[in-house]
Amino acid sequence: MLYGKHILVIISGGVAAYKAIELIRLIQKAGGTVQAILTKSATEFVSPLTISTLCGRPALTALFDLTRETEIGHIELSRSADLIVIAPGTANILAKLANGIADDLATTCLLATDTPIMAAPAMNVRMWEAASTRRNLALLANDGVQFVGPDEGEMACGEFGPGRLAEPPVILEAIVAHFERANRPKPLAGKHAIVTSGPTREPIDPVRFLSNASSGKQGVAIAEALAALGARVSFVTGPAQYRQPRGCAVIDVETAIEMDRAVEAALPADIAVFCAAVSDWRVETPADDKIKKDADETAPTLTLVANPDILRRVSSLAGGNRPRLVVGFAAETSNLLENAKAKLKRKGCDWLLANDVSPASGTFGGANNTVTLLAGEAVEAWEPMDKQAVAQKLATRIAESFQRDRRI
Ligand SMILES: Cc1cc2nc3c(=O)[nH]c(=O)nc-3n(C[C@H](O)[C@H](O)[C@H](O)COP(=O)(O)O)c2cc1C
Repeated sequence: MLYGKHILVIISGGVAAYKAIELIRLIQKAGGTVQAILTKSATEFVSPLTISTLCGRPALTALFDLTRETEIGHIELSRSADLIVIAPGTANILAKLANGIADDLATTCLLATDTPIMAAPAMNVRMWEAASTRRNLALLANDGVQFVGPDEGEMACGEFGPGRLAEPPVILEAIVAHFERANRPKPLAGKHAIVTSGPTREPIDPVRFLSNASSGKQGVAIAEALAALGARVSFVTGPAQYRQPRGCAVIDVETAIEMDRAVEAALPADIAVFCAAVSDWRVETPADDKIKKDADETAPTLTLVANPDILRRVSSLAGGNRPRLVVGFAAETSNLLENAKAKLKRKGCDWLLANDVSPASGTFGGANNTVTLLAGEAVEAWEPMDKQAVAQKLATRIAESFQRDRRI
């Protein structure tokens, strides 16, 4: 499974450091070789001698080790691996990696590398939920760091919640899956895709807004599926629950006007998938101050104006500015096919994925989606499947259309 693969395992200073021993064993059993680095704190939890004996080569701990530096420098060390795995990853090492701090051998190697990085975080639940950790994880996900875990459960400190190191066999599975993904053909290499996702938020006043229940799950899955096929993906997202696809450049926006501008700035592109549930209207003049309840309790009247129609605008761009393939989504609650056919014509996009978002369908926020693909006169009903599967099917279809050099 991992024959010929060399993994740099970075062990940082958490109680779960002893589990790195099992992980190293599993990687070796799967055919891989391991070089280990321990942070200074990690040496308080596991002995470098144990790890060295296990790996069959010295476990490294110090940046300023002159003998080591002349034999194999820290730059070479970080690049000679096929994958770097941080297990366990403390809140501290993840914070340093997110912020480009390189003050020991482990973090210097992490900063100096162009090798893919996978992190298995492990920490107390309060550390995991701390606002700074959330921010650091978002930065790392955006930088393309892959995560495995953490699990939820009882911790060494007696507390309960997310923060436990993923079990070593699960980390091994993620490592194997990484190499399987990396070895897959990349038919969309060299292509740029824009994916919009999530809801938009249109202000009524400084504390209220118009929005919808789009979770961003389908958009994230599509962005990741296109990236997995080699596309460079610009992911423009409203304030959604899911908005961090791995390996994509994320552009956060709030309103439809901001989304329109962000899409414009991301062009030119070969592929555009407009998956966002953009609000059709916005309040013409949002109030500067919070609207107060009148003494007589009269409700305010909101005057709405139409938002920019991003799908139609991009579909009608002239010549080289138009992405070669423009895909829209039609979220409908009734007369799905009829409405979707009319929308395809009206918008001028190449493909339209129509889905039922009526409350009974459970599509918004749910795991599954039932989609019908419309392309020109062709109508193709896909069987119900989870959003990952919809994304993979769509990405595969997009790649095929580029290979055939045809839109449909
Ligand atoms: C007994 C003990 C257990 C610890 N366990 C963890 C842990 O599981 N996760 C974590 O992020 N920090 C943990 N810490 C805190 C880290 O060791 C500390 O933040 C340290 O600076 C991490 O250094 P490193 O990231 O360079 O390894 C623990 C500290 C002690 C004393």
